[in-house]
Parts: sequence; C-alpha cells; structure tokens
Amino acid sequence: MTTLITNIKELLQVRETFVSKVSGAEMAILPTIKNAFLIIKDNLIADFGAMENLPDVTADQIIDATGRIVLPCWCDSHTHIVYAGNREQEFVDRINGLSYEEIANRGGGILNSAKKLNETSEEEIYEQSRLRLEEVMNLGTGAIEIKSGYGLTVEGELKMLQVIKKLADNYPISIKATFLGAHAFPLHYEENKEGYIDEIISKMLPEITKNKLAEYIDVFCESGYFSVEETEKIMEAGIRFGLTPKIHVNQFKSLGGVKAGVKHKALSVDHLENMNREDIEVLKDSETMPVALPSCSYFLSIPYTPAREMISAGLPIALATDFNPGSTPSGNMNFVVATACIKMKMTPEEAINAATINGAYAMGLSETHGSITKGKRANLIITKPVSSFYQIPYAFGSNLIESVLIEGKFLV
Ligand code: NIG
Ligand code: FE
Repeated sequence: MTTLITNIKELLQVRETFVSKVSGAEMAILPTIKNAFLIIKDNLIADFGAMENLPDVTADQIIDATGRIVLPCWCDSHTHIVYAGNREQEFVDRINGLSYEEIANRGGGILNSAKKLNETSEEEIYEQSRLRLEEVMNLGTGAIEIKSGYGLTVEGELKMLQVIKKLADNYPISIKATFLGAHAFPLHYEENKEGYIDEIISKMLPEITKNKLAEYIDVFCESGYFSVEETEKIMEAGIRFGLTPKIHVNQFKSLGGVKAGVKHKALSVDHLENMNREDIEVLKDSETMPVALPSCSYFLSIPYTPAREMISAGLPIALATDFNPGSTPSGNMNFVVATACIKMKMTPEEAINAATINGAYAMGLSETHGSITKGKRANLIITKPVSSFYQIPYAFGSNLIESVLIEGKFLV
C-alpha cells in the first residue's frame, strides 16, 4: 500500500540523517521543507522532499495537503492513563482551598486512585483506559509511555500492567510500559516503609519481569513519598532485573533525586518544577533527558519547569502530558506544546522538538519515531489549513488537527 501526500504547505521536523535527540541551542532549529511531498509505503515513511523533486510514483491513494502542515505525531513519554474512575471531588476540594498535599495526607490522592483500581475489574479498567488512549491518538499522539502505580499491591500492579499490555496488543500505537510500584506507600505500610519496599523488590519485580510486563522502572522521589535513598535502592533493584529507570523528581522539592537519576543512568527525569543550580549542572554531559509536564503545573498551580534556564545551560527538554486522574486529567499534547510556549517561554520550534524527537528519546523510541526520516514509522499529523505552524501553540484552545495517520493508516 503506497500513499502519496502532495502540496504540503510545510513539512516539519525533517531529519535526513538520524538524530536521537536535540539539545540546548539546537532546540531552536526545527528543520522543515516548504511545499513538500511525502510517500508512505505500508507503515513507514519511504520518501519526502520538495514538490519540484517529486519522483514518478504509483500510489494507491493521493492526499492533497494544500494549505496544511504535516508533522510527526506527538511522542508522549510520561502518562498514567490506566486508572479507574476519577478524582473530580478532589478537584473541587482544591478549588475550595485544600492543597494537593493536604488531600493526599487525608488518604486522598494516589491512595484514593489505588483503592478504586483495586476494587475495579481488569476488563472495566481496560474499557475506561482504552477510551483515553483513543482520545489522545485522535489528538495526534503516535507513541506513548504508560505507568502502573495505582495498584500498590502485587495483584493491582500486575493488573495494571496486563491492561497496558492489552492496549499495546490491540492498538497500532507504540506503547512503552513502566513499573511504578513506588508511587506511594499503602496505608498499612505507613509504619513499615521498608516492608513495602521489600514487597516491591522481592515480590513485584520478579513477577513483572518474568512476564516481561515492563521495560522501565519509576519511583516518585518526593518528601512524603520515596526518599532519595529509597529511590536509589528501588532503581538499583530494577536495574538488576533488567529495567531502566525513568523517575519522578523535583515536583515539589529539590531533594537530590536528579543527581540520583543521572548516577543510575535514568533514561529520563520527569517533572522538574523545582530546579536548583546543582540539578541543572548534574544533567549536563549526561544522557538523561529532562522531561517537563506543563499541564501538571497548570492544573495544580505549581511552578513551571524553568525551561529557559535549562536550555541556556545546553540541556535538552522533552515535553509530555502526565495524563493521570490527580494532577493532570488531560492527555492533550497540543495543549502541552501551547502551554510550554505561553508559560515556559519555549519557542514553537523548541516546543515541537521537545514534543516529538526528544519525547521519542525519553521513551527509547527515537530509532523509529519523532521525526520525518526515511524508514521511521509513518505516524503523522495533518493540520487543518493554517497560516503557519505557529498557529499550533498560538490558537491554544482550538483543535487544528484535520487527520492523524498511525503506521501509515488514517484514524477513522
Ligand atoms: O506525576 N506525582 C506523582 N504522580 C502523578 C500524580 C499522581 C496522582 O495524583 O494520582 C504525577 O503528577
Ligand atoms: Fe507522573
């Protein structure tokens, strides 16, 4: 099956030669081709270039993209889309003055979602989660990472990871699974934290890795959750079982989790709303991708990741949604890109780099996703007619997506 897209107003994120990520000053450059064509063979990008160089090609379908921008699908490297129910009551409680922390201390927050998850059948959780997956695919997400972390029991964590596997089996989008047993301490372990960490290491990890249910290990490193020492212990255990760390750090406080992540060669360190000089220094010359989650800052009214400072220091940044029931009930990457521009002062070029190629890197997918490169997956967003790609963040409340192709096929 060959698809030819012609007359593309501008083709974004064109990388003739392979790059795994872009850092610092390179982030300001978004390579594009104006008045372009693109050829898809089966599920892959086969060719692209300027219209004047369009080769002779016999196509099964021809799409005329006059006036439209084409770009690689968003790569959302940090989500928790598998969950049961919602936390809309906590949302209202926060409006009425309670903080995220106060709600968590009353047994709400992550423990509230864990209770709901353990009371809900695997089939029902799958049904609720697949609707969220379908929603974000239609919003242009073409690769996604999904975490466990609302089970907090052996059965609950396995149930979540089975749902993630079933989503990966049933949908064309690439899905990466992360084990986040260390998301919070269950109430009955409040006085025996070592006991829960032991359960993660000696019960959950062997079972999960035996069944190949996760590739990454995550820990919520934060005061009131897992200390830096506990985070290191859990990362080390995960590494022994063949998992790569990708961790939650610096959401509310800078405790040293960034340094611990870099030391253990974490693929990414995520959140980073509170960064000090040392956190930035330690990320320089590392292979660890800093991931910002601006929808979380927006929803919780907490600081935004200091992108300008980080980019000036030469660091790359990836952008992701953090889609979850507590801190970010939205999986809209278009909103993430817009918010990064509006609130974090990233330029549209930087934000699009962060949400495509750097997002792919942050979930180990840059070989196949995140740019217009021959041989990569034909995961593409075709916009509605627009004046320029600046419209994507500028018109922050509009849906400018006309169609989405995943693995060379239009979503219907
Ligand atoms: O990334 N911060 C930790 N975990 C999630 C929120 C979890 C929740 O509130 O349910 C996050 O923001
Ligand atoms: Fe998260």
